[in-house]
Amino acid sequence: MRVVMATNNQNKLREAQEILSPLGIEVISQWEAGADTDPEENGATFADNAYIKARAVYDIVHCPVIADDSGLCVEALGGAPGVHSARYAPKGQECQKLLAAMQDVPAEKRGAYFRCTICYMDENGSGTLSADCKGRIDFSARGGNGFGYDPVFEYGEKTLAEMTSEEKNQISHRGAALRQLYAVFRERYGEADADK
Ligand code: IMP
Repeated sequence: MRVVMATNNQNKLREAQEILSPLGIEVISQWEAGADTDPEENGATFADNAYIKARAVYDIVHCPVIADDSGLCVEALGGAPGVHSARYAPKGQECQKLLAAMQDVPAEKRGAYFRCTICYMDENGSGTLSADCKGRIDFSARGGNGFGYDPVFEYGEKTLAEMTSEEKNQISHRGAALRQLYAVFRERYGEADADK
């Protein structure tokens, strides 16, 4: 089957394609589907924002849509930047800003998690699901892969930016959420349709 991803973030699109295409689900971008929209993400929660994005694209394309709203929640910062992760700092400066905010936080208090919430929508309505990836904020940025906060988010011995995309997708919030989504699609569309 084919779904349209409601996002203007090329990295999220690439990861969703890497994760879902081996499962037989083709993910196309909202631009390929003719939906040039960028709604204001003014919801209070990841689920609210995922719904806003899915709805904006679904109302144009009228076929199955998924939207990902995600972010980084840092325990020492009371869960910030959370739903504001994309707006926490100018693009490319988010890691530096976070490292500065965390400079006096000791190793044992540097716990954090990424959350990925997916909203799926079709002619029968919508649903949401979420998954987390738990790790720590490192003391410096390491690695050149990935995007956003990946260079400062340590999982095991590596930051996400030091992992290959296969390694990241196996343990990431997005990987876990999209594998849950696949299970939902098999229920919703039937085994044969979810696989073709
Ligand atoms: P939004 O879902 O469009 O509000 O943006 C989420 C923001 O959270 C992104 O711009 C990134 O800064 C951050 N983020 C979400 N997922 C990841 C990830 O897998 N790695 C690194 N940063 C992420």
